[in-house]
Formats: sequence, structure tokens, C-alpha cells
Amino acid sequence: MRSQILNLLKQNGNKFLSGEYLADTLKVSRTAIWKHIKALRDNGYNIESVPRSGYRLIDSPDLLSSEEIKSSLTTKILGSEILYFETVDSTNTQAKKVALQGVKDGTIIISEEQGGGRGRLSRSFFSPKYKGIWFSVILKPKFLPQEAPKCTLMAATAITKAIEDVTGVKVGIKWPNDVLYEGKKLVGILTEMNAEMDCINYIIIGMGINVNIDKEEMPEEIQNIATSLSQITGKKISRLKLLNKILYYLEHLYIICQEEGFAPILDEWRKYSITLNQHIRVIGTNEVLEGIAVDIDDDGALLVNIDGQIKRVLAGDVSI
Ligand code: BTN
Repeated sequence: MRSQILNLLKQNGNKFLSGEYLADTLKVSRTAIWKHIKALRDNGYNIESVPRSGYRLIDSPDLLSSEEIKSSLTTKILGSEILYFETVDSTNTQAKKVALQGVKDGTIIISEEQGGGRGRLSRSFFSPKYKGIWFSVILKPKFLPQEAPKCTLMAATAITKAIEDVTGVKVGIKWPNDVLYEGKKLVGILTEMNAEMDCINYIIIGMGINVNIDKEEMPEEIQNIATSLSQITGKKISRLKLLNKILYYLEHLYIICQEEGFAPILDEWRKYSITLNQHIRVIGTNEVLEGIAVDIDDDGALLVNIDGQIKRVLAGDVSI
């Protein structure tokens, strides 16, 4: 109900909407409308009310609550269910808990901050309050478990496209899943899966985007290796606009990979890759390799030319 009221107020822009109109449109009493308006105000919405004119929205807080997300959502699958937290240990950990209880494909777990944000290789992930987009999407695709790692490439592509659309900033993807700007990390993605031999129970794609974090707010050890969109542009970026664009592109690619396979997504990924055609060093699980990254194959594995021999790398940390 609250997101519907917000929706109507947002659509109406600067004009007033009467309590009667809201009540009739949403088929509830005027008292109910008044109660919801009060609750929205308590949550930081500045809603003006004028006798005989009604209500109008002056300002919204920069929150990523389900109401806010739903009031401007353009997707059908992603975000059909949203679980919102002010604070949480890790959205991926929460996602795992709820995924076992039979959630819908496309459910989102989002938090304003994470106390125990997790990265790849058991690293921690800095996720300060209201400063970034820290969220996980639960997917229940029909494809086989071996296809799942490509979801990381899909998410990196969606985020890169969304960042470019919303901020005009051109960012690049370092294989497999980091989004970088001038060599500094802007986005991290952690994909986790629960599967049987031939079917996926669920995939969790956890995404962390540094949006409005000043350099001095970052821990010293990452100040020179990480960045944020506000540091790059010198402006505060709307987290909500960016999140909705990410969901839009992610859903689009998710539909494509289920209908046509991953080939079109890998092609898109190649366009944004900063790894291909570079001399790279990969720290893999058992070895360290150096060579030219020539392509990714159909499985999303990196193909590295080492003295004329092509080596397939399935996982690892790349430095360029
Ligand atoms: C990495 O760079 O190693 C991956 C970082 C992934 C961070 C995101 S933030 C939302 C989700 N919840 C987590 O605990 N991790 C992911």
C-alpha cells in the first residue's frame, strides 16, 4: 500500500493529490491513507499536506527500501519479492537462509549496510551505511549447474551498462567479475550456488557497488585500490536510479540466457572487458601463470596464450 501511495505521489510530481482521490484509487479509507502517510513521514519522506488540496511529495530519503524500489521498478522477475534490511551481516548469507524456504525466482535481499560483507576467497567487503548498493539476487534458472559461473559475467555486464547509462562513466570488467575504473575497484560480485548433479536449486548473485563513499571514509588499506562513483564524478549519485537500471539490464540478460543461452551475454561481456588482449598474471588455485589473455570460451573460462600455447583458466585473481 505504501509503495502504491508513493507511486501515485511521485507520478503526480509537484501537484497535490487529495486524500479522497488516493482512498478511491487504492480502495481504502481516508483514515488508512492518513496512517500510511504518517508512516512514510516517520521513515523520512517529506510529504506536504494542505487542507482541501491534499498531499504532495516534496522529498524522498535516499533509502533503498522495498517501497522506494517498488515505486520505480521496471522489471517483472527481479524484485518481485524484496527483503529490505537497515543492517545485516551479509545479504548473501541472508539470501541463503531464505532461499531454502522456497522463495520466488528473482527475490532480492538488500541492506543499507553489512557488518560482515563477504568477498571472494574469504575476504571481507567494506559496505558502509547508505553509501553503496549492497544486495543479492536469488535466481532459480532452468539451465545446468555448470552454466552458473557465467551468471557472474552476466551481472558484471549488467552493472557496467547501468553505470554507464546513469552516470556516463565508462568502466571496464576485469575477468571474471570486478568492475574497475582506472585500475581501481568499484564493484565486487560474489556468486554462490546450491545444486544437484543436473539441476540448480538456486544461485545467489551478491553485488556490492561503491556509490557515494569519500576516499577518507574508506579503510586506509583500500583507499588506493578502490574507488566510488562519487569520487569519480565529484557528484552524489542516486542509488535508487542506479539499482533500478542494474535490475533492468540484469533481467534483460537473464531472460536472454534462458531463452538463447549465454553466447549473446559473453559477446556483451567482451565489449566491456579490460582483460582481453592484455599481458596478464593470474594467480590460480595451484599455479601462477603469465601470458596474453586472448578470449573467454563458451564456459566463460579465460584463454591465456603462454608462449604460443593456449591455457584455460577457470578461476583466479588476475592482475594486468
Ligand atoms: C569480491 O569483490 O570479492 C566480491 C564482493 C561481493 C560483495 C557483495 S555485497 C552484497 C553481497 N553480500 C556479501 O556479503 N557479498 C556480496
